[in-house]
Amino acid sequence: MFGRERVELKTPEQILKMREAGLLTHAALESVRAALRPGITPAELDAVGAEVIRAGGGTSNFLGYHGYPATLCISVNEVVVHGIPGDRPLEEGDVVSVDGGAVVDGWHGDSAFTAIVGKPREPGDVELVETTRQALWAGIAALDARGRVGDVGAAVEDAVGGRLGIVDGYTGHGIGTAMHMAPDVLNHRDRDKGPKVRPGMVLAIEPMCTRGGVDTDVLADEWTVVTSDGTRAAHWEHTVAVLEEGLWVLTAPDGGAAELGARGVRVPSE
Ligand code: MF3
Ligand code: CO
Repeated sequence: MFGRERVELKTPEQILKMREAGLLTHAALESVRAALRPGITPAELDAVGAEVIRAGGGTSNFLGYHGYPATLCISVNEVVVHGIPGDRPLEEGDVVSVDGGAVVDGWHGDSAFTAIVGKPREPGDVELVETTRQALWAGIAALDARGRVGDVGAAVEDAVGGRLGIVDGYTGHGIGTAMHMAPDVLNHRDRDKGPKVRPGMVLAIEPMCTRGGVDTDVLADEWTVVTSDGTRAAHWEHTVAVLEEGLWVLTAPDGGAAELGARGVRVPSE
């Protein structure tokens, strides 16, 4: 989508502002995670997240984006991404992806997680969620080598290891003064290795995986993206800054220290 457009590089001061947006994004998603239970509706969860963003002095970057009608995307089971929160109550065992972002002083955060409501239906659903989460962190860790942005996709692909479908046609993205900016951040290997990873880059990394194939369809509402084969899907996302000193996961409360530390990547202390 962004081809060879130049990448917005942020100053350390600007990244500190983005950290505020990242932490508010995290708080909103955490409030939704805490409220997840059988019987609650996605529309109710959307209201929970919206209130946290409002109370924290931010605004939603999703609401009104190309006419998007809600604060969060809540994507249940075979819905991959961009599910519009509706009034159908969640059921035990549903696989629920929650995606949201806050804007603070003009700077954007964007993050997503997938959770299973109550008791999982099948072990394969647990593996779907966990493998996709591992793929996210592998992709983030790949930035530490300061190679090319395409290293993220290679690391995501390797972490998935052929056990899941990596959704075709959707990518991560640069983020900063807007939610979607250059460069595209692919979730698979590509001949185009993308731009060099530089300090000041901030990227939203977001693997989307399925228990089946890589193909999707968009429903008549023009938002809801479902797997073509009806298999369940997961989506994890973080907003990550590349600093002179190392990586900083802006939408993780610990800056990514625990997950990156486990992968041998040090996160500079805040
Ligand atoms: N947050 C999604 C992404 O990760 C974009 C959502 S688009 C919206 O890039 F319109 F639904 F907000
Ligand atoms: Co995103």
